[in-house]
Amino acid sequence: MVLIGYSGHAFVVYGIFKAAGKNVMGYCDVAEKTYNPFGLPYVGTENSETGLDAIKASGYFIAVGDNKLRKKIYEALQKNNLSSTNAIHPSAVIDSSANIATQGVMIAANATINPLAFIATGAICNTGCIVEHECAVGEFAHIGPGAVLCGNVKVGAGSFVGANAVIRQGVTIGNNAMIGAGAVVVKDVADGVTVVGVPAK
Ligand SMILES: CC(C)(COP(=O)(O)OP(=O)(O)OC[C@H]1O[C@@H](n2cnc3c(N)ncnc32)[C@H](O)[C@@H]1OP(=O)(O)O)[C@@H](O)C(=O)NCCC(=O)NCCS
Repeated sequence: MVLIGYSGHAFVVYGIFKAAGKNVMGYCDVAEKTYNPFGLPYVGTENSETGLDAIKASGYFIAVGDNKLRKKIYEALQKNNLSSTNAIHPSAVIDSSANIATQGVMIAANATINPLAFIATGAICNTGCIVEHECAVGEFAHIGPGAVLCGNVKVGAGSFVGANAVIRQGVTIGNNAMIGAGAVVVKDVADGVTVVGVPAK
């Protein structure tokens, strides 16, 4: 496994693969990092010959928290017919009726994905979040640590739900929206809008 990106978010992804017993053989990034807490070898950018060779030999996961950048890297690698794996922590609780896309999904430690939920390609369900029954998390969206999506919530593609935010049941969050940490969202949020607070505005 090669991690693409090697900073804070990637350290969490590394922990997931380690807990799952998978070997991470190196990382790609725009340049070699001076801070290398896990002593991973740098294999070049994901577009370089050495980076692509490593990716082809052992697979990859895009360990980038930024939704737009993660999507851009994913699409570029898909053009080369290179499929990503998922990163799922063994402590995550995922109901057997939940539908998890097969590429680029991260489900971190202690996250709960309840019945009939859908998690799309490239989405992040971060540490301890709860995605309740029949929720849909869009492509390259990010549900932050401890956030709770009550039942039947929809989070659009590229949106970010901050740490410990709560989204009331039935609410729809549009694409590329931003929900502040700790917000309680009781009404729909339109595309591209940022809301904060309790109730969120
Ligand atoms: C909402 C958020 C994106 C806004 O970031 P920003 O655009 O840089 O905003 P600023 O820090 O400049 O704050 C702007 C104003 O909003 C307020 N504010 C910022 N975040 C807030 C929050 N989560 N709840 C309530 N108010 C908030 C600030 O106090 C400030 O108010 P003021 O203008 O009266 O001083 C950010 O604060 C946030 O909550 N991010 C989520 C962090 C997170 O969950 N990280 C987990 C990563 S895994």
